[in-house]
Amino acid sequence: RLAAMKVEVMKTSARSQAAAVIVGMYAGRTPAPGATSHSRGNAAALAAFEFEGKSGQCAVLPGPEGKRLVFVGLGDELDLEGLRQAAAIGRKAVGGADIVATTLHQVGLDGAAQAVVEGVGLADYRFDIYKSDRTERPELVLELIGGKVPDVTSALINVEAVNLARDLVNEPAMAKSPMEISRRLADLAEAAGASVEIWDVDRLAEERMGGMIGVGQGSVRPPAMLKIHYRGRRPKARLTFVGKGIVFDSGGLSLKSADFMEAMKDDMAGGAAVAAAVIAIARLGLPIDVTSYSAFAENLPSGSAQRPGDVLTARNGKTIEVLNTDAEGRLVLADVLSLAAESEPDLIVDLATLTGACKVGLGPKIAGVFGRDQVAVDGVLAAAASTGERVWQMPLPDDHRYMIDSDIADMKNTGAGRYGGAIAAAKLLQEFVGEVPWVHLDIAGPAYLDKGEHYLPKGGTGFGVRILIDLAASA
Ligand code: BES
Ligand code: MN
Ligand code: ZN
Repeated sequence: RLAAMKVEVMKTSARSQAAAVIVGMYAGRTPAPGATSHSRGNAAALAAFEFEGKSGQCAVLPGPEGKRLVFVGLGDELDLEGLRQAAAIGRKAVGGADIVATTLHQVGLDGAAQAVVEGVGLADYRFDIYKSDRTERPELVLELIGGKVPDVTSALINVEAVNLARDLVNEPAMAKSPMEISRRLADLAEAAGASVEIWDVDRLAEERMGGMIGVGQGSVRPPAMLKIHYRGRRPKARLTFVGKGIVFDSGGLSLKSADFMEAMKDDMAGGAAVAAAVIAIARLGLPIDVTSYSAFAENLPSGSAQRPGDVLTARNGKTIEVLNTDAEGRLVLADVLSLAAESEPDLIVDLATLTGACKVGLGPKIAGVFGRDQVAVDGVLAAAASTGERVWQMPLPDDHRYMIDSDIADMKNTGAGRYGGAIAAAKLLQEFVGEVPWVHLDIAGPAYLDKGEHYLPKGGTGFGVRILIDLAASA
Protein backbone atom coordinates (compact mmCIF):
# COMPACT_ATOMS: atom_id res chain seq x y z
CA ARG A 1 0.00 0.00 0.00
CA LEU A 2 1.42 3.29 -1.15
CA ALA A 3 -0.57 5.75 0.90
CA ALA A 4 -3.67 6.09 3.02
CA MET A 5 -5.28 7.35 -0.15
CA LYS A 6 -5.94 6.00 -3.60
CA VAL A 7 -6.20 7.89 -6.86
CA GLU A 8 -8.40 6.73 -9.73
CA VAL A 9 -8.23 8.37 -13.13
CA MET A 10 -11.47 8.52 -15.14
CA LYS A 11 -12.22 9.93 -18.58
CA THR A 12 -15.79 10.85 -17.62
CA SER A 13 -17.89 10.77 -14.47
CA ALA A 14 -20.04 7.91 -15.84
CA ARG A 15 -18.49 5.36 -13.44
CA SER A 16 -17.88 7.77 -10.58
CA GLN A 17 -18.73 6.45 -7.13
CA ALA A 18 -17.99 9.75 -5.45
CA ALA A 19 -20.20 11.32 -2.80
CA ALA A 20 -18.91 14.77 -3.75
CA VAL A 21 -17.24 16.55 -6.67
CA ILE A 22 -14.76 19.36 -6.05
CA VAL A 23 -14.78 21.92 -8.86
CA GLY A 24 -12.96 25.21 -9.23
CA MET A 25 -14.09 28.71 -10.09
CA TYR A 26 -11.91 31.70 -10.76
CA ALA A 27 -12.71 35.14 -9.38
CA GLY A 28 -15.92 36.54 -10.83
CA ARG A 29 -17.42 33.02 -10.75
CA THR A 30 -15.73 32.03 -14.00
CA PRO A 31 -15.77 28.22 -14.14
CA ALA A 32 -12.34 26.58 -14.33
CA PRO A 33 -11.78 23.95 -17.03
CA GLY A 34 -13.88 20.92 -16.14
CA ALA A 35 -16.33 22.96 -14.05
CA THR A 36 -18.55 24.44 -16.75
CA SER A 37 -21.27 21.80 -16.70
CA HIS A 38 -21.33 21.79 -12.89
CA SER A 39 -21.69 25.53 -12.67
CA ARG A 40 -24.62 25.66 -15.06
CA GLY A 41 -27.82 26.43 -13.17
CA ASN A 42 -25.97 27.13 -9.93
CA ALA A 43 -25.07 30.78 -10.46
CA ALA A 44 -27.95 32.11 -8.35
CA ALA A 45 -27.29 29.72 -5.49
CA LEU A 46 -23.57 30.55 -5.51
CA ALA A 47 -24.36 34.25 -5.53
CA ALA A 48 -26.72 33.75 -2.59
CA PHE A 49 -23.86 32.08 -0.68
CA GLU A 50 -21.69 35.11 -1.57
CA PHE A 51 -19.35 32.72 -3.37
CA GLU A 52 -17.41 34.82 -5.89
CA GLY A 53 -14.54 32.46 -6.68
CA LYS A 54 -12.04 34.25 -4.47
CA SER A 55 -9.26 32.04 -3.18
CA GLY A 56 -10.18 30.51 0.16
CA GLN A 57 -13.91 30.53 -0.61
CA CYS A 58 -15.95 27.36 -0.69
CA ALA A 59 -19.64 26.56 -1.18
CA VAL A 60 -21.33 23.16 -1.07
CA LEU A 61 -24.50 22.70 -3.15
CA PRO A 62 -26.68 19.69 -3.92
CA GLY A 63 -25.78 18.18 -7.28
CA PRO A 64 -27.04 15.45 -9.64
CA GLU A 65 -27.44 11.84 -8.47
CA GLY A 66 -27.28 12.81 -4.81
CA LYS A 67 -23.67 13.99 -5.17
CA ARG A 68 -22.60 17.15 -3.43
CA LEU A 69 -21.04 19.85 -5.56
CA VAL A 70 -18.13 21.51 -3.80
CA PHE A 71 -17.19 24.82 -5.40
CA VAL A 72 -13.78 26.17 -4.41
CA GLY A 73 -12.46 29.62 -5.25
CA LEU A 74 -9.28 29.81 -7.34
CA GLY A 75 -8.90 33.62 -7.31
CA ASP A 76 -7.55 35.46 -10.32
CA GLU A 77 -3.88 34.47 -10.25
CA LEU A 78 -3.84 30.76 -9.56
CA ASP A 79 -0.49 29.07 -8.89
CA LEU A 80 0.31 25.54 -7.71
CA GLU A 81 0.18 26.49 -4.05
CA GLY A 82 -3.20 28.14 -4.53
CA LEU A 83 -4.38 24.94 -6.21
CA ARG A 84 -3.04 22.77 -3.34
CA GLN A 85 -4.89 24.94 -0.85
CA ALA A 86 -8.12 25.01 -2.90
CA ALA A 87 -8.09 21.21 -3.21
CA ALA A 88 -7.52 20.95 0.54
CA ILE A 89 -10.37 23.33 1.35
CA GLY A 90 -12.66 21.36 -0.96
CA ARG A 91 -11.74 18.06 0.66
CA LYS A 92 -12.28 19.43 4.17
CA ALA A 93 -15.73 20.74 3.22
CA VAL A 94 -16.85 17.11 2.75
CA GLY A 95 -14.59 15.52 5.37
CA GLY A 96 -16.95 12.59 5.97
CA ALA A 97 -16.91 11.39 2.35
CA ASP A 98 -14.67 8.41 1.55
CA ILE A 99 -14.84 8.79 -2.22
CA VAL A 100 -14.35 12.25 -3.66
CA ALA A 101 -14.11 13.32 -7.29
CA THR A 102 -12.55 16.44 -8.74
CA THR A 103 -11.82 18.21 -12.00
CA LEU A 104 -9.37 20.67 -10.40
CA HIS A 105 -6.36 19.01 -12.07
CA GLN A 106 -7.57 20.35 -15.44
CA VAL A 107 -6.66 23.98 -14.65
CA GLY A 108 -3.71 24.00 -17.01
CA LEU A 109 -0.74 24.46 -14.70
CA ASP A 110 2.32 22.21 -14.93
CA GLY A 111 2.13 19.80 -12.00
CA ALA A 112 -1.56 20.49 -11.37
CA ALA A 113 -2.56 16.86 -10.81
CA GLN A 114 0.27 16.37 -8.30
CA ALA A 115 -0.72 19.56 -6.48
CA VAL A 116 -4.35 18.42 -6.24
CA VAL A 117 -3.33 15.02 -4.88
CA GLU A 118 -1.00 16.67 -2.35
CA GLY A 119 -3.61 19.18 -1.23
CA VAL A 120 -6.28 16.53 -0.73
CA GLY A 121 -3.93 13.96 0.82
CA LEU A 122 -2.33 16.42 3.23
CA ALA A 123 -5.72 17.85 4.23
CA ASP A 124 -7.08 14.38 4.91
CA TYR A 125 -4.56 13.83 7.72
CA ARG A 126 -5.77 13.02 11.23
CA PHE A 127 -4.06 11.79 14.36
CA ASP A 128 -6.68 9.92 16.35
CA ILE A 129 -4.94 6.81 17.68
CA TYR A 130 -5.44 8.06 21.23
CA LYS A 131 -9.18 8.70 20.79
CA SER A 132 -11.05 5.78 22.35
CA ASP A 133 -14.12 6.52 20.23
CA ARG A 134 -12.28 6.63 16.91
CA THR A 135 -13.89 4.71 14.07
CA GLU A 136 -12.02 2.80 11.39
CA ARG A 137 -12.51 4.63 8.13
CA PRO A 138 -11.79 3.20 4.69
CA GLU A 139 -8.93 4.79 2.78
CA LEU A 140 -9.84 7.88 0.82
CA VAL A 141 -10.37 7.43 -2.92
CA LEU A 142 -9.79 10.50 -5.08
CA GLU A 143 -11.23 10.34 -8.58
CA LEU A 144 -9.52 12.63 -11.10
CA ILE A 145 -12.13 13.12 -13.78
CA GLY A 146 -11.36 14.26 -17.32
CA GLY A 147 -8.33 15.86 -18.92
CA LYS A 148 -4.89 14.33 -19.35
CA VAL A 149 -3.59 12.97 -16.07
CA PRO A 150 0.11 12.18 -15.56
CA ASP A 151 1.37 9.60 -13.06
CA VAL A 152 0.78 10.95 -9.56
CA THR A 153 2.71 8.31 -7.62
CA SER A 154 5.31 10.86 -6.55
CA ALA A 155 2.62 13.07 -5.01
CA LEU A 156 1.27 10.11 -3.03
CA ILE A 157 4.78 9.35 -1.76
CA ASN A 158 5.20 13.00 -0.75
CA VAL A 159 1.91 12.92 1.14
CA GLU A 160 2.84 9.76 2.95
CA ALA A 161 6.27 11.15 3.93
CA VAL A 162 4.80 14.38 5.31
CA ASN A 163 2.09 12.49 7.19
CA LEU A 164 4.71 10.15 8.67
CA ALA A 165 6.64 13.14 10.03
CA ARG A 166 3.37 14.57 11.39
CA ASP A 167 2.52 11.30 13.14
CA LEU A 168 5.91 11.17 14.83
CA VAL A 169 5.67 14.79 16.00
CA ASN A 170 2.13 14.31 17.32
CA GLU A 171 3.10 11.12 19.15
CA PRO A 172 3.49 11.86 22.88
CA ALA A 173 7.08 11.93 24.10
CA MET A 174 6.37 8.93 26.36
CA ALA A 175 5.95 6.77 23.25
CA LYS A 176 9.01 7.92 21.32
CA SER A 177 12.24 7.37 23.24
CA PRO A 178 15.33 8.09 21.12
CA MET A 179 15.81 4.35 20.51
CA GLU A 180 12.13 3.66 19.76
CA ILE A 181 11.78 6.45 17.23
CA SER A 182 15.08 5.44 15.60
CA ARG A 183 13.90 1.84 15.22
CA ARG A 184 10.52 2.85 13.84
CA LEU A 185 12.13 5.01 11.16
CA ALA A 186 14.88 2.47 10.50
CA ASP A 187 12.27 -0.22 9.70
CA LEU A 188 10.55 2.06 7.21
CA ALA A 189 13.88 3.05 5.65
CA GLU A 190 14.93 -0.57 5.17
CA ALA A 191 11.57 -1.40 3.63
CA ALA A 192 12.20 1.45 1.18
CA GLY A 193 15.57 -0.02 0.17
CA ALA A 194 17.81 2.33 2.15
CA SER A 195 20.52 1.23 4.56
CA VAL A 196 20.43 2.28 8.20
CA GLU A 197 22.66 2.59 11.22
CA ILE A 198 21.61 3.34 14.78
CA TRP A 199 24.26 4.51 17.22
CA ASP A 200 23.33 3.75 20.82
CA VAL A 201 24.78 5.68 23.73
CA ASP A 202 27.92 3.50 23.98
CA ARG A 203 28.66 3.98 20.31
CA LEU A 204 28.01 7.72 20.64
CA ALA A 205 30.62 7.85 23.43
CA GLU A 206 33.12 5.86 21.34
CA GLU A 207 32.52 8.23 18.45
CA ARG A 208 33.17 11.31 20.62
CA MET A 209 29.63 12.70 20.25
CA GLY A 210 29.97 14.86 23.37
CA GLY A 211 27.01 17.11 22.56
CA MET A 212 24.50 14.28 22.23
CA ILE A 213 25.82 12.60 25.38
CA GLY A 214 25.68 15.85 27.37
CA VAL A 215 22.13 16.71 26.35
CA GLY A 216 20.85 13.17 26.81
CA GLN A 217 22.48 12.33 30.13
CA GLY A 218 19.64 13.66 32.31
CA SER A 219 17.13 11.15 30.94
CA VAL A 220 16.80 7.45 31.75
CA ARG A 221 16.13 7.04 28.02
CA PRO A 222 19.59 7.44 26.47
CA PRO A 223 20.26 9.33 23.21
CA ALA A 224 20.50 7.60 19.83
CA MET A 225 21.58 8.67 16.39
CA LEU A 226 19.85 7.37 13.28
CA LYS A 227 21.69 7.41 9.96
CA ILE A 228 19.83 6.54 6.76
CA HIS A 229 21.66 6.21 3.48
CA TYR A 230 20.26 5.77 0.00
CA ARG A 231 22.25 5.64 -3.19
CA GLY A 232 20.19 5.96 -6.34
CA ARG A 233 21.45 4.86 -9.74
CA ARG A 234 24.08 7.13 -11.31
CA PRO A 235 23.72 9.72 -8.53
CA LYS A 236 23.84 13.30 -9.74
CA ALA A 237 24.85 14.70 -6.36
CA ARG A 238 25.65 13.76 -2.78
CA LEU A 239 23.23 15.41 -0.33
CA THR A 240 23.19 15.19 3.45
CA PHE A 241 20.28 16.14 5.68
CA VAL A 242 20.71 16.71 9.42
CA GLY A 243 17.85 16.99 11.92
CA LYS A 244 17.41 18.03 15.54
CA GLY A 245 15.62 15.20 17.32
CA ILE A 246 14.91 16.26 20.89
CA VAL A 247 12.05 13.90 21.77
CA PHE A 248 11.17 16.15 24.68
CA ASP A 249 12.69 19.51 25.58
CA SER A 250 11.97 20.41 29.21
CA GLY A 251 14.92 22.80 29.08
CA GLY A 252 16.91 20.54 31.41
CA LEU A 253 18.18 22.19 34.62
CA SER A 254 17.54 25.55 32.90
CA LEU A 255 13.93 24.41 33.15
CA LYS A 256 11.24 25.92 30.93
CA SER A 257 8.05 27.29 32.45
CA ALA A 258 4.91 25.17 32.00
CA ASP A 259 3.54 27.30 29.16
CA PHE A 260 6.67 26.99 27.06
CA MET A 261 7.02 23.26 27.74
CA GLU A 262 3.53 22.30 26.58
CA ALA A 263 4.37 21.64 22.92
CA MET A 264 7.95 20.45 23.40
CA LYS A 265 7.25 16.93 22.18
CA ASP A 266 7.60 18.66 18.79
CA ASP A 267 11.31 19.30 19.27
CA MET A 268 12.21 16.23 17.20
CA ALA A 269 10.41 17.56 14.11
CA GLY A 270 13.69 18.13 12.23
CA GLY A 271 14.99 14.64 13.00
CA ALA A 272 11.75 13.07 11.81
CA ALA A 273 11.57 15.26 8.70
CA VAL A 274 15.05 14.43 7.40
CA ALA A 275 14.46 10.70 7.88
CA ALA A 276 11.00 10.83 6.27
CA ALA A 277 12.47 12.72 3.31
CA VAL A 278 15.22 10.14 2.69
CA ILE A 279 12.67 7.33 2.96
CA ALA A 280 10.57 9.10 0.31
CA ILE A 281 13.60 9.70 -1.92
CA ALA A 282 14.42 5.99 -1.72
CA ARG A 283 10.85 5.03 -2.60
CA LEU A 284 10.95 7.44 -5.53
CA GLY A 285 14.27 5.93 -6.64
CA LEU A 286 15.74 9.36 -7.36
CA PRO A 287 19.24 9.43 -8.92
CA ILE A 288 20.83 10.91 -5.81
CA ASP A 289 23.19 9.82 -3.08
CA VAL A 290 21.49 10.99 0.10
CA THR A 291 22.14 10.53 3.80
CA SER A 292 20.16 11.69 6.81
CA TYR A 293 21.42 12.02 10.36
CA SER A 294 18.81 12.39 13.09
CA ALA A 295 20.15 13.36 16.50
CA PHE A 296 17.63 11.94 18.99
CA ALA A 297 17.96 12.77 22.69
CA GLU A 298 15.75 13.76 25.60
CA ASN A 299 16.48 16.97 27.50
CA LEU A 300 15.44 16.41 31.13
CA PRO A 301 16.62 17.65 34.53
CA SER A 302 17.85 15.02 37.03
CA GLY A 303 20.80 14.15 39.24
CA SER A 304 22.70 13.05 36.17
CA ALA A 305 21.77 16.02 33.97
CA GLN A 306 24.38 18.38 32.62
CA ARG A 307 24.77 21.63 34.58
CA PRO A 308 24.89 25.22 33.42
CA GLY A 309 28.60 25.98 33.17
CA ASP A 310 29.63 22.49 32.07
CA VAL A 311 31.91 22.26 29.03
CA LEU A 312 31.30 19.70 26.27
CA THR A 313 33.65 18.52 23.54
CA ALA A 314 31.85 17.97 20.26
CA ARG A 315 32.74 15.43 17.59
CA ASN A 316 35.16 17.77 15.78
CA GLY A 317 37.09 18.50 19.01
CA LYS A 318 35.71 22.00 19.56
CA THR A 319 34.56 22.85 23.10
CA ILE A 320 31.24 24.43 24.07
CA GLU A 321 30.43 26.04 27.41
CA VAL A 322 26.83 25.13 28.27
CA LEU A 323 25.57 28.27 29.97
CA ASN A 324 21.92 27.37 29.42
CA THR A 325 20.88 23.72 29.20
CA ASP A 326 17.77 24.82 27.26
CA ALA A 327 19.93 25.76 24.27
CA GLU A 328 20.38 22.03 23.66
CA GLY A 329 19.53 21.72 19.98
CA ARG A 330 22.76 23.33 18.83
CA LEU A 331 24.69 20.92 21.10
CA VAL A 332 23.35 17.77 19.48
CA LEU A 333 23.60 19.34 16.03
CA ALA A 334 27.26 20.24 16.62
CA ASP A 335 28.07 16.50 16.65
CA VAL A 336 25.94 15.42 13.70
CA LEU A 337 26.96 18.38 11.55
CA SER A 338 30.63 17.53 12.21
CA LEU A 339 29.95 13.94 11.30
CA ALA A 340 28.08 14.95 8.15
CA ALA A 341 30.88 17.32 7.09
CA GLU A 342 33.53 14.59 7.43
CA SER A 343 32.30 12.87 4.27
CA GLU A 344 32.38 16.17 2.35
CA PRO A 345 29.00 15.98 0.61
CA ASP A 346 27.97 18.54 -2.01
CA LEU A 347 25.47 20.06 0.40
CA ILE A 348 24.34 19.81 4.02
CA VAL A 349 20.85 20.99 4.93
CA ASP A 350 19.81 20.95 8.56
CA LEU A 351 16.28 21.25 9.94
CA ALA A 352 15.82 22.23 13.57
CA THR A 353 13.15 23.61 15.89
CA LEU A 354 16.06 25.63 17.16
CA THR A 355 15.03 28.96 18.65
CA GLY A 356 12.02 30.73 20.08
CA ALA A 357 13.71 33.84 18.72
CA CYS A 358 13.13 32.72 15.13
CA LYS A 359 9.45 32.15 15.87
CA VAL A 360 9.24 35.59 17.48
CA GLY A 361 10.90 37.17 14.44
CA LEU A 362 9.06 35.44 11.61
CA GLY A 363 5.85 34.28 13.28
CA PRO A 364 4.51 30.74 13.41
CA LYS A 365 4.10 30.14 9.66
CA ILE A 366 7.55 30.93 8.29
CA ALA A 367 10.91 29.22 8.75
CA GLY A 368 14.24 31.06 8.88
CA VAL A 369 16.92 30.11 6.34
CA PHE A 370 20.59 30.71 7.16
CA GLY A 371 23.78 30.11 5.20
CA ARG A 372 26.85 31.78 3.70
CA ASP A 373 26.84 29.86 0.43
CA GLN A 374 24.26 31.87 -1.50
CA VAL A 375 24.03 29.34 -4.34
CA ALA A 376 23.11 26.66 -1.80
CA VAL A 377 20.67 29.00 -0.03
CA ASP A 378 19.06 29.90 -3.36
CA GLY A 379 18.56 26.20 -4.07
CA VAL A 380 16.62 25.82 -0.83
CA LEU A 381 14.62 29.00 -1.47
CA ALA A 382 13.68 27.69 -4.93
CA ALA A 383 12.65 24.30 -3.54
CA ALA A 384 10.49 26.00 -0.91
CA ALA A 385 8.89 28.22 -3.54
CA SER A 386 7.89 25.16 -5.51
CA THR A 387 6.49 23.18 -2.55
CA GLY A 388 4.67 26.10 -0.94
CA GLU A 389 6.53 25.74 2.35
CA ARG A 390 7.17 29.27 3.56
CA VAL A 391 10.72 30.37 4.33
CA TRP A 392 12.63 33.62 4.65
CA GLN A 393 16.37 34.15 4.44
CA MET A 394 18.02 35.57 7.56
CA PRO A 395 21.50 37.09 7.84
CA LEU A 396 24.53 35.18 9.11
CA PRO A 397 27.21 37.89 9.23
CA ASP A 398 30.89 37.07 9.75
CA ASP A 399 31.27 39.82 12.33
CA HIS A 400 28.61 38.22 14.58
CA ARG A 401 30.85 35.42 15.82
CA TYR A 402 31.25 37.56 19.00
CA MET A 403 27.74 36.47 19.97
CA ILE A 404 29.01 33.03 20.99
CA ASP A 405 32.43 33.97 22.39
CA SER A 406 33.08 32.14 25.67
CA ASP A 407 35.42 33.11 28.51
CA ILE A 408 36.71 29.57 29.05
CA ALA A 409 35.82 27.43 26.01
CA ASP A 410 35.84 27.77 22.20
CA MET A 411 32.25 29.02 22.29
CA LYS A 412 29.20 29.24 24.52
CA ASN A 413 25.77 27.88 23.73
CA THR A 414 23.88 31.10 24.48
CA GLY A 415 23.85 34.33 22.51
CA ALA A 416 24.57 37.96 23.32
CA GLY A 417 21.74 38.91 25.65
CA ARG A 418 18.12 39.06 24.52
CA TYR A 419 18.61 39.94 20.89
CA GLY A 420 19.36 38.03 17.70
CA GLY A 421 18.98 34.60 19.29
CA ALA A 422 18.30 32.80 16.01
CA ILE A 423 21.50 34.23 14.49
CA ALA A 424 23.57 33.28 17.57
CA ALA A 425 22.32 29.69 17.30
CA ALA A 426 23.13 29.57 13.57
CA LYS A 427 26.61 30.99 14.24
CA LEU A 428 27.28 28.09 16.59
CA LEU A 429 26.14 25.55 13.98
CA GLN A 430 28.42 27.21 11.43
CA GLU A 431 31.43 26.21 13.57
CA PHE A 432 30.80 22.55 12.75
CA VAL A 433 30.31 22.36 8.98
CA GLY A 434 33.84 23.25 7.88
CA GLU A 435 33.96 24.22 4.21
CA VAL A 436 30.96 22.18 3.11
CA PRO A 437 28.10 24.17 1.51
CA TRP A 438 25.46 24.30 4.22
CA VAL A 439 21.97 25.65 4.74
CA HIS A 440 20.24 25.81 8.11
CA LEU A 441 16.45 25.95 8.47
CA ASP A 442 15.10 27.10 11.83
CA ILE A 443 11.63 25.53 11.82
CA ALA A 444 10.65 26.43 15.42
CA GLY A 445 7.53 28.21 14.10
CA PRO A 446 6.06 26.15 11.26
CA ALA A 447 6.89 22.64 12.56
CA TYR A 448 3.93 22.77 14.92
CA LEU A 449 0.85 24.96 14.64
CA ASP A 450 -1.67 26.08 17.26
CA LYS A 451 -4.20 26.57 14.50
CA GLY A 452 -4.56 24.64 11.24
CA GLU A 453 -5.49 26.03 7.81
CA HIS A 454 -6.10 24.53 4.34
CA TYR A 455 -3.81 21.45 4.13
CA LEU A 456 -1.90 22.26 7.32
CA PRO A 457 -3.24 20.56 10.44
CA LYS A 458 -3.11 21.84 13.97
CA GLY A 459 -0.11 20.19 15.70
CA GLY A 460 2.74 18.59 13.73
CA THR A 461 2.91 19.80 10.12
CA GLY A 462 5.77 17.81 8.59
CA PHE A 463 7.35 21.10 7.56
CA GLY A 464 10.45 20.75 5.40
CA VAL A 465 9.90 17.18 4.20
CA ARG A 466 8.75 18.33 0.77
CA ILE A 467 11.53 20.92 0.51
CA LEU A 468 14.12 18.16 0.95
CA ILE A 469 12.44 15.81 -1.52
CA ASP A 470 12.21 18.65 -4.04
CA LEU A 471 15.90 19.47 -3.56
CA ALA A 472 16.77 15.86 -4.33
CA ALA A 473 14.42 15.71 -7.30
CA SER A 474 15.84 18.89 -8.86
CA ALA A 475 19.54 18.26 -8.09
N1 BES B 1 13.27 23.89 21.31
C1 BES B 1 13.54 25.21 21.73
C2 BES B 1 13.13 26.25 20.70
C3 BES B 1 11.65 26.37 20.40
C4 BES B 1 10.89 27.34 21.01
C5 BES B 1 11.06 25.57 19.45
C6 BES B 1 9.55 27.47 20.71
C7 BES B 1 9.71 25.68 19.15
C8 BES B 1 8.96 26.63 19.78
C9 BES B 1 15.04 25.38 21.99
O1 BES B 1 15.70 24.26 22.43
C10 BES B 1 15.20 26.42 23.05
O2 BES B 1 14.75 26.19 24.14
N2 BES B 1 15.85 27.53 22.69
C11 BES B 1 16.04 28.58 23.63
C12 BES B 1 17.47 29.06 23.50
C13 BES B 1 17.91 30.00 24.58
C14 BES B 1 17.93 29.30 25.92
C15 BES B 1 19.28 30.53 24.26
C16 BES B 1 15.06 29.68 23.28
O3 BES B 1 14.79 29.90 22.10
O4 BES B 1 14.54 30.30 24.20
MN1 MN C 1 15.59 24.02 24.53
ZN1 ZN D 1 14.89 22.46 21.92
